[in-house]
Amino acid sequence: MKTKVLITGGTGYIGSHTAVTLIEAGYEVILIDNLSNSSENVVSRIGTITKVKPELEVIDLAKMEQCATVFKRHQDAKAIIHFAALKAVGESVKKPLEYYSNNIGSLTNTLICAKKNGIDKFIFSSSATVFGEPDSIPITEDALRKRPFSPYGNSKKVSEEIMEDLVASESAVSITSLRYFNPIGAHDSGELGELPSGVPNNLMPYITQTATGIREKLWVYGDDYPTRDGIPIRDYIHVVDLAEAHLSAMERLLKEENEEPMEVFNLGSGVGYSVMEVIHAFETTTGQKLNYEITHRRNGDVPQLVASSELAYKKLDWKPKRNLSEMVGSAWAWEKKIRNTKN
Ligand code: NAD
Ligand code: UD1
Repeated sequence: MKTKVLITGGTGYIGSHTAVTLIEAGYEVILIDNLSNSSENVVSRIGTITKVKPELEVIDLAKMEQCATVFKRHQDAKAIIHFAALKAVGESVKKPLEYYSNNIGSLTNTLICAKKNGIDKFIFSSSATVFGEPDSIPITEDALRKRPFSPYGNSKKVSEEIMEDLVASESAVSITSLRYFNPIGAHDSGELGELPSGVPNNLMPYITQTATGIREKLWVYGDDYPTRDGIPIRDYIHVVDLAEAHLSAMERLLKEENEEPMEVFNLGSGVGYSVMEVIHAFETTTGQKLNYEITHRRNGDVPQLVASSELAYKKLDWKPKRNLSEMVGSAWAWEKKIRNTKN
């Protein structure tokens, strides 16, 4: 009998890669998604890679009746990995209530349904955004969580606080909050990757779409930051490395090796690259020239976000294996595949 795991947001970018990693490690996964930012095709793509087509439950987790029905059906699951959330930072500034009701509502409903059905191991998708502008680099887990700049970011900070209150109130549940830094890249097979709807906000899809000609030019937001080249620095991490961290974190909970009822880990590569360094890595790896221009700063950007992931390396027995060239190369392979271009 395979151990069953529920993956909410399972057809999304990080959820789908994690589903592949878990299936390949011998788990049965059930994907739960309302398809608000992903497509059902992802299920077949996971099937193509793993030769196992997982079950998909299409429901809105922010609606309690739907959540309750599906969890009852899968009460034999042993763990939940909760990716489901809305994640567009700019949109969250315009639609704060939508973001709070979706992200907080789906979290509390999932936790309530998990409890009712005796599923007591829970992994949460958090973000480096919970730190706001950090006081020092690299950022360790115990750094102050300052108020994030957006309702999206604040929904992640509040989610962590809700889970802290929950573990303080009862001993039955074990939670791991994983704070991702900047996930980029795609599965080696070219079957899975990031598929933003509309104009991308994030750097990597903007780069690959510019290289294909969908976007005319990449705007580099600011060169007057206090960094080595004046350009903001981020800690980019390959999405497959991130997926592998979820497997490690889940197995730590399943083996009851966690030392606290709620543990928190930063997940990054520990190496910071400026936007210009990412552009150069892209050009060198792919041979594609990128049309870019430096412009003014983007609101809400901080100069530098680099993780200390030492705790994850030690406690999760995990390390990111893929370098920047593999990140940008796989993102380009995915972009070419979905656009069906020949270059
Ligand atoms: P994604 O949008 O590709 O995946 C999220 C999935 O959740 C989507 O498939 C969407 O349809 C689904 N969803 C949203 N609300 C739902 C609801 N109410 N009920 C059911 N399904 C719902 O995003 P992603 O990049 O894979 O991110 C996964 C998680 O990681 C999110 O919680 C996100 O906030 C967090 N995160 C992402 C990044 C990043 O750079 N991608 C960084 C830090 C944290
Ligand atoms: C952003 C969010 C963060 C969220 C993360 C993943 C903000 C302020 N932060 O992180 O909360 O968790 O995405 O969804 O929005 N850049 C350009 N040109 C572009 C796009 C980006 O120069 O067209 C630069 C940015 O200034 C930044 C870097 O590239 O320095 C990375 O940007 P991005 O991919 O948007 O991620 P973050 O801003 O780090």
